[in-house]
Amino acid sequence: MKNIVILSGAGVSAESGISTFRDSGGLWEQYKIEEVATPEAWENNPQKVQTFYNLRRKQILEVKPNEAHFLIAKLESRFHVNVITQNIDDLHERAGSTNVLHLHGNIRYAKSSGPNQEVNYYPVEGWGLKMSDLCPDGYPLRPHVVWFGESVPMMDKAAELIAEADILIVIGTSLQVYPAAGLVYMTPRQCQKFIIDPGINERDIPSDYTLIKKSASLGMKHLMEQVLF
Ligand code: OAD
Repeated sequence: MKNIVILSGAGVSAESGISTFRDSGGLWEQYKIEEVATPEAWENNPQKVQTFYNLRRKQILEVKPNEAHFLIAKLESRFHVNVITQNIDDLHERAGSTNVLHLHGNIRYAKSSGPNQEVNYYPVEGWGLKMSDLCPDGYPLRPHVVWFGESVPMMDKAAELIAEADILIVIGTSLQVYPAAGLVYMTPRQCQKFIIDPGINERDIPSDYTLIKKSASLGMKHLMEQVLF
């Protein structure tokens, strides 16, 4: 079986009703990154950070996977599939994908805000994580997400998966955030490479990628009907 790797971003969840970050009206127009998504933000005002991610978690629990997530899961009937997602939602898993690597964490989980953060992840019941929710060492729990300025612990594993890809499908990411965006340059020589995105700036795409300028669901449908199945 051929190996397919999916590299997904916020655009794959847009049709489920979750805002992307950098499109007009996106989350980073409504919030300042430095106030909600950095270690300094947590130091200065942890409650504000907690509230920001509690709202993300609440919304994610209210929405459903869309056709794009389901089509990606369906690829597993014909291919060996790994999904590398920058998204902190769990919509790929809820649609049935079985191998999902979360580069930037998973909002359904919390981790310690003390040392040893990457040792244990704790499932969050419901959507509200409180500052009084503590890890066994007594530190407040923080969302299991990667903030700007933090390292990306799953990067090496993601690079290993990309290095084995026969087909790479990049879907719904502006490729503005590193190191994740660097993964598109780490494919083996023979790999077939596609980008599905209705709005990406064509200058941001490496020349050896085929661009399918469609929404995630229509782009996946097109790719599956015309190329993969
Ligand atoms: P962005 O908001 O930067 O980019 C979203 C991409 O999705 C854009 O290229 C849009 O054109 C595209 N898009 C919009 N609607 C779409 C649709 N219906 N179907 C397909 N594509 C669509 O989001 P990401 O690239 O995921 O990190 O952002 C990367 C990282 O930056 C995130 O993981 C997050 C963010 O800050 C952290 O918080 C660390």
